[in-house]
Amino acid sequence: MKPVRKAVLPVAGLGTRVLPGTKTTPKELLNVVDRPILSYVVEEGRKAGIEHFVFVTGRGKGAIEDYFDHQIELEAQLEAKGKLDILAQLRAELPKPGEMSFVRQMAPLGLGHAVWCARDIIGDEPFAVMLPDVIIDAERSALGQLVDAYNKVGGGNLVGVEEVPEADTHKYGIVAPSKVDGRLATMSGMVEKPAKGTAPSNWSIAGRYILQPEIFGLLAEQEKGAGNEIQLTDSMAKLLHLQPFHAYIYEGVTHDCGDKIGLLRANVALALKRPDLGEAARAAISALL
Ligand code: UTP
Repeated sequence: MKPVRKAVLPVAGLGTRVLPGTKTTPKELLNVVDRPILSYVVEEGRKAGIEHFVFVTGRGKGAIEDYFDHQIELEAQLEAKGKLDILAQLRAELPKPGEMSFVRQMAPLGLGHAVWCARDIIGDEPFAVMLPDVIIDAERSALGQLVDAYNKVGGGNLVGVEEVPEADTHKYGIVAPSKVDGRLATMSGMVEKPAKGTAPSNWSIAGRYILQPEIFGLLAEQEKGAGNEIQLTDSMAKLLHLQPFHAYIYEGVTHDCGDKIGLLRANVALALKRPDLGEAARAAISALL
């Protein structure tokens, strides 16, 4: 069984739900409290043991590559002004040489297509997919929990899930679980955005996956699905007939920062938890309420 060393982060979407904020700033670089959404996601990946991050970028997303590089003038200014704490924080998050790759998706044809664009860099080994607009606030890295579950079941494919209200299942990719064992279940199927009343469960695929490289062959042939996009879920549903697939309910709070209220909620929740800001944030929010 090969270890999970690489992660694909598709960042080529248009972020239309949070326009106009995303007109000139990539959605993944919108701030939650005082750092970009992407910064939380990369931190989670590193804590899970990911050694190589593959970003699938698109037009207008160049700032992401710059974020993970030195900003020479800024660093010099911070040093001159003695702002050494923030300087150390900036430097600590820089990649090791060769830790990040960037590949271009030339049109946002869907999540499945974005993942397929990373095929040559991933090669013939299992890999993670991390949706870079989803922050999972967890004691232990959510992807790390999935890697542990993957090692426990002996490989195959695994998706992170969270339970959602029945009334909301039509908004998500939904898993059909069979043989449930605590937080882990064997999967018998999955469907992207099922019509109301047809969902096989309320287990929603939440933006963290571990996949085998055989997914790439299926993605290459994948036709458009829900939303007229090439859907990762549709190819995973085919792979499920060929290889083991598990779902794992990770421990943690999921913040979908891709829509306005999710982004607002993430800001409030994570500010309240910060040792340096929590008290002031609580006072400010209470005053508003
Ligand atoms: P979303 O559907 O949430 O992102 O895809 P979006 O398309 O940017 O958002 P809206 O609906 O227009 O507001 C989940 C992730 O997959 C990436 C997005 O960047 C996002 O982080 N994605 C999506 C791609 O990289 N390429 C695509 O073709 C589609």
